Amino acid sequence: MKIINKTVRLLKRPVGFPEQDTWKISDEILPSLKDGEILIENNYISLDPAMRGWLNETRSYIEPVKIGDVMRAGSIGKIIESKNSKFSIGDIVSGGAGVQQYSINNGNGFFKINPGKLDLPVFIGTLGMPGMTAYFGILEVGKIKAGDTVLVSAAAGAVGSIVGQIAKIKGCKVVGIAGGKEKCDYVINELGFDGCVDYKNESVVRGIKRDCPNGVDVYFDNVGGDILDAALIFINQHARIVICGAISQYNETSAKGPNNYLSLLVNRGTMTGMVVFDYVKKYPIAVKEMSKWIEEGKLKSKEDVYDGIENFYEIFKKLFNGEKKGKLILKVK
Ligand SMILES: NC(=O)c1ccc[n+]([C@@H]2O[C@H](COP(=O)([O-])OP(=O)(O)OC[C@H]3O[C@@H](n4cnc5c(N)ncnc54)[C@H](OP(=O)(O)O)[C@@H]3O)[C@@H](O)[C@H]2O)c1
Repeated sequence: MKIINKTVRLLKRPVGFPEQDTWKISDEILPSLKDGEILIENNYISLDPAMRGWLNETRSYIEPVKIGDVMRAGSIGKIIESKNSKFSIGDIVSGGAGVQQYSINNGNGFFKINPGKLDLPVFIGTLGMPGMTAYFGILEVGKIKAGDTVLVSAAAGAVGSIVGQIAKIKGCKVVGIAGGKEKCDYVINELGFDGCVDYKNESVVRGIKRDCPNGVDVYFDNVGGDILDAALIFINQHARIVICGAISQYNETSAKGPNNYLSLLVNRGTMTGMVVFDYVKKYPIAVKEMSKWIEEGKLKSKEDVYDGIENFYEIFKKLFNGEKKGKLILKVK
């Protein structure tokens, strides 16, 4: 039986914000499986701000997506055919299958998941790449300790929401930065943050001053730009700034660096970049501890799931226009 696979392939490199014709959606007939290969029916695809960076032909921590290739993306799905002894039909696997309904590959980079009572999307959100980023970013790079004041931007997002909740579990005071009253209310009332600066409706400098009267010990930066500059004004001595992302700059043709970096000198602070893939070997530690927190009701996992691979572009835009909370996920099968 022939299987039709809807794929999203990169058509051209965008300048600035990607247009719809950056990608092409096609129906393709799947070839038959060769020895050593598996066929995965992809159920959920992870939509991440990093996808924007993967479109640029610049040196980065990973190769850019090639023109004509299926758009790179994290995924979770079910094996429906296997010619690889390590995988069986029915196995649930997570990996990087890309934005397509099916994937044929040799299984490298895919690992099996036993979801238990949890919904599958949790495994590409809180117990997947964004959750791992939050866990290792705030604990190993941010080196938080009880009593610290932690400030986190994109606080209602996949990484930021988990960063703040972990910092609360560890006894820190936590202040978020998010866009709009509804998101700030969510961050405080649902996620348990101590405060939230609404960067769309108030001065970030005044907001941080109000909510962090004793300064900031750890700033977890997801957005860069002016918000990073504002945070630098308030850092305490020996503060740690975790450079996790800079979403405010991803669609700019020339990224803006921080003006206020001398605050690091004055306060003997550090600003450290992190890439989650450096912690792959330790993921099981984080998954074990975070699963326990979820079970105990200490950690809330929020996934925003949208249906239909044909809607990829409209849903991708939600990463940048703020129209989502928690982890953005595309259901494709
Ligand atoms: N270093 C790593 O290994 C690693 C791994 C994963 C993610 N990241 C980075 O971490 C950051 C967060 O990723 P995520 O997956 O958790 O995304 P996300 O927070 O779920 O989604 C992005 C959010 O960023 C906010 N945003 C968009 N444009 C903005 C702007 N111009 N200024 C301020 N905020 C803006 C929006 O929230 P509002 O509605 O609040 O504006 C949006 O919901 C990204 O920069 C990403 O690239 C890094």
